[in-house]
Amino acid sequence: MTTTELSAAQQASAHALEDLDRRHLVHPQQSGANPDRLVIVRGDGSSVWDVHGREYLDICGSGNWACQVGHGREELVTAGAEQLGRLAYFSGFFGFSNDKAVRLATRLIELAPDNMERVFFTSGGSEGVETAMKVSRLFHHHRGQPERTWFISRNLGYHGATYGSGTLTGFPGMQEGVGPNLPHVAKVSPPYLYRAAEMYGTTEDPTDFLLRELDDTIREIGPDRVAAMIGEPVIGGGGILEPPADYWPRVRELLSRYGILLIADEVVTAFGRTGSWFDSPDRGMAPDIIVTAKGLTSGYAPLGAVLMSAEVGGTVAGDDVVFGHGHTYSAHPTACAIALANLDVIEKDGLVERARVIEDWLREDLAPLTGLPQVGDVRVVGATAGIELVTDHATREPLMGDPVTTELQHKHGVICRAYGPTIVLSPPLVIERDQLRRAGAALTEVISRLLPDGRITA
Ligand SMILES: Cc1ncc(COP(=O)(O)O)c(C=O)c1O
Repeated sequence: MTTTELSAAQQASAHALEDLDRRHLVHPQQSGANPDRLVIVRGDGSSVWDVHGREYLDICGSGNWACQVGHGREELVTAGAEQLGRLAYFSGFFGFSNDKAVRLATRLIELAPDNMERVFFTSGGSEGVETAMKVSRLFHHHRGQPERTWFISRNLGYHGATYGSGTLTGFPGMQEGVGPNLPHVAKVSPPYLYRAAEMYGTTEDPTDFLLRELDDTIREIGPDRVAAMIGEPVIGGGGILEPPADYWPRVRELLSRYGILLIADEVVTAFGRTGSWFDSPDRGMAPDIIVTAKGLTSGYAPLGAVLMSAEVGGTVAGDDVVFGHGHTYSAHPTACAIALANLDVIEKDGLVERARVIEDWLREDLAPLTGLPQVGDVRVVGATAGIELVTDHATREPLMGDPVTTELQHKHGVICRAYGPTIVLSPPLVIERDQLRRAGAALTEVISRLLPDGRITA
């Protein structure tokens, strides 16, 4: 870690910036309890620097599961700059198009599962989920079943923060004080193997339980009133929850039997994060709609893409129908140009395959954690991992991870995030062997000093 020495005036101006941030900038999911502000001003590879000149190791993909190709990639910078110079923006409404959007849509369809045919671009994941919801209802509307208006999502699933996507999201805290939420949404249990017995109240096979619960929920609503189910192939923000191998194939089969669509929320998992371009095919999900964002541009520009199967796309956006939906920045040429360059880098550098190498490194580097009394479970899926903290192994009472991430940042210059009791890692796919090893050692060092009351010993 390097620190650039700043003059007294520069330091004062850095502190002033932090004060102005506290005064004027409202952060996503801002916590009143945390007055810390880390003002990041530069990045290179897997490192970023703050306004004081301090270097940090980014093991959470720009703080948010993005940054597949690492910070400061010349290829993306050039692609963005060239496109800004040629045509920064033009609308996608009224039949207007642009070359970059057409090329990107075509490229995505080449990479996606075989049944995918059409793409709608958004500015991010939440807008993508909203789109998928409307597309699902529209599909049934055009097929003569307008009464199919219900959605099924899962507790601990994360799908965004807008009204529809926020209602699908299974974090009750995010919905407090903003109700009433969108109607016609039902929640079922997530596949959470570490807590299956306590969460499901049974020791039967988890998939059997989850399928029965899903079937009961569908029957309660009425099978011909359900539009779609949405799920992340592997739950991300809810704590890196990988389902049993038979979970998605059985869910898919059940939904198909009832004529219900399946939306794969691949905002986190697509573009290499779990070791594949798309994760849903590997899990037997066979979705009708796939929502992506984050890794599509590695976070270099705000962009999401909603992929639709030939059947769904042809029904809602075929030649003889009106698709009554769209945003000013749908198919933004500069964002699409950056995405194309990003996909080129992912392919050229073999980053999808590299995620599987990182998976091995993570297993090795996080292995010492499994012996600690503070660690209940370590879950590694491709180049992402969750470390679930508990007060003790017997009770499995959750222990919040925020004190650990704060100490890691201050003492070791390592940035990662805690989602409740689970510390989540999602490093850039270019991270070096020694960088990850150092992160693992730092995590072990800090977590071993975590007390059951949440304090960290000196
Ligand atoms: C799985 C998943 N879906 C949707 C979203 C929402 O995306 P955005 O924050 O770009 O709106 C996120 C964001 O973290 C996500 O993890």
